[in-house]
Amino acid sequence: MSEPAQLVPTLTINEIVAAGQQMKINDASRSPPETILTGDRPTGPLHLGHYVGSLANRVRLQREHHQTILIADLQALTDNAGRAADVRHNVREVMLDYLAVGIDPELTPIALQSAMPELAELTMLYLNLVTVARLERNPTVKAEIELRGFSRDIPAGFLAYPVSQAADITAFRATLVPVGEDQLPMIEQTNEIVRRLAHLAGRPVLPECRALLSATTRLPGIDGRKASKSLGNAISLSAPDDEIRRLVHAMFTDPGHVRASDPGRVEDNVVFAYLRAFDPDQQAVAELEAHYRRGGLGDAALKERLTHILQTFLAPIRERRALYAQDRDIVRDVLRDGTKASRSTASAVLEEVRDVFSLGSL
Ligand code: TRP
Repeated sequence: MSEPAQLVPTLTINEIVAAGQQMKINDASRSPPETILTGDRPTGPLHLGHYVGSLANRVRLQREHHQTILIADLQALTDNAGRAADVRHNVREVMLDYLAVGIDPELTPIALQSAMPELAELTMLYLNLVTVARLERNPTVKAEIELRGFSRDIPAGFLAYPVSQAADITAFRATLVPVGEDQLPMIEQTNEIVRRLAHLAGRPVLPECRALLSATTRLPGIDGRKASKSLGNAISLSAPDDEIRRLVHAMFTDPGHVRASDPGRVEDNVVFAYLRAFDPDQQAVAELEAHYRRGGLGDAALKERLTHILQTFLAPIRERRALYAQDRDIVRDVLRDGTKASRSTASAVLEEVRDVFSLGSL
């Protein structure tokens, strides 16, 4: 089978931001009103990898476009049914992270998937447009099945979660979906469903969507593997100073760089990956890289620099997070408002889809 990812029309964050600015300069009235949906499974507090890969972009995009964030708690349950209380707890943690990094709920409504029954009904209808064989071919789901060690015990809801994600995306009439590479197969499946629906109806019903890929490379975990809270290799946005220090000092550098005087590798060196992402002085980083390559620059000095940079970066985020955490109502109120607004869009979409299936009201 050909690589489905390549069939998906994608944009990078720089292209879309540049396009927005271009439009604004030339003709503000023609600036493209993209409808953006992004989502997260609430499986743990967010970390620096989320910041670099998606949160920073969301904060940038929220002024230029119509953006909604969906907290995909039902999707999280598809492989965490036994940890439902954790998922519930993490909805609040993730909300605090959003607010702390500067997601403004006035600009970016935040909705809770499980509080939108329209999504469940859309999923049920879309399941009629997808074969089991197609679900089994989704490369990301396949990889996740392997990772979780499911063999004959795959939860049906897990195999079908790309269909529920198609419901999420179409319920908002999203035209642009910021995602990592691993989510491209979900966009592809969404557009297949949109096309099948149009075929059934004999006319276009819902818009197809494009993926918006982050221009930055993925930030690794401190051990160089994929960053994940469960692996304990990620620096969370709420990490206190001593934890930041401990994790930076445990970072993988270059095992061949034994003495400071030895030449070192910067390519898969985690400290440099973080410096490239967070050091405000990128000129200095380039010089440090050259110095490290030549030899004569020790890991300890670099780690000290990074520790301070990350502590400075995270301190205001942690403070804002603590303030929001003290307010007993804010998380609930933001989520209620965002969910209410989203349900009105979703119910209009649901009516149209029900209509295609000849499901009128009684
Ligand atoms: N599958 C996404 C992830 O694991 C989360 C998600 C659920 C999502 N629904 C979405 C992302 C809708 C974008 C749009 O990160």
